[in-house]
Amino acid sequence: MRELGPALDGVLGGRVVVATLVAAIVLKQMISGEVQVGQWVPPGSGDMRSPCPALNTLANHGFLPRNGMNITRSNLTSALENVYNISSILANTLAIGAISVDGENSQISLDELDKHGTIEHDASMTRLDTYFGDNHSLNPDLFNGLLNATTDGAVLTESDFAAYQSIRQADSKANNPDFDFGLKQQGAAAGEPALFLAVFGQYDGNSYNVTLSSLKSVFGLEQLPSDWTTTANGEVTTLQVGGIAASIRSKWTSA
Ligand code: HEM
Repeated sequence: MRELGPALDGVLGGRVVVATLVAAIVLKQMISGEVQVGQWVPPGSGDMRSPCPALNTLANHGFLPRNGMNITRSNLTSALENVYNISSILANTLAIGAISVDGENSQISLDELDKHGTIEHDASMTRLDTYFGDNHSLNPDLFNGLLNATTDGAVLTESDFAAYQSIRQADSKANNPDFDFGLKQQGAAAGEPALFLAVFGQYDGNSYNVTLSSLKSVFGLEQLPSDWTTTANGEVTTLQVGGIAASIRSKWTSA
């Protein structure tokens, strides 16, 4: 033991040094506000967010710049591909499309997606029409309406989304004098739940559905669902999302 003493002292001494270093790093991160990529942190004051729950979620986890600003095509495509497992072709189509219509100098800040009439449109599921005010933030009443569209109390199916979107479209048509819902807006409106179902939902052999718990996480908290994995559904392709969007659109009773 006498010989082991100094050696043990050395090992224990080393552990103490490592532990002290780790503690110092964690403390520095806590003090400086540094957080790891993947860790969920809600936006702070001055951070930009969009009317898109899925992009806000990426920013809250640090897969897009946490301040939501100066996002490049490469930032966007990497996040869409690596986190949501969206195919490179679809990720590039979405990113290039968004930056070209709403961005500036080959970059985009999330708040630029509020611009009405490019991608942002009337009759959103959880945001007010621009005519009525805030087209950006989650509206709690509309979100409750979306959750209540469930027919089994557990999931939202393609038909549930279509039924709720039909209600929203009829309401906007009746009450919004500026209601603008042409083919471009219809394409975006059908594509959004289709993307959501492909990324966060599951296929029951006939159609897609997504749990209310995932909806509450991504729409409500703008946080990735705790039980969700990136690769659960395999690669999300343009053909797949187009098919779901067409199915939803075919069930609309308004517009
Ligand atoms: C570059 C990629 C994307 C861009 C530029 C984008 C942009 C937008 C914008 C501008 C809106 C607001 C539309 C409106 O309701 O007026 C929106 C809504 C939405 N987005 Fe995204 N988005 C992207 C990717 C995604 C992805 C990957 C998903 C799903 C995983 C998604 C899911 C949704 C949903 C469900 C809505 C509807 C919100 C509502 O109606 O209340 N988006 N997106």
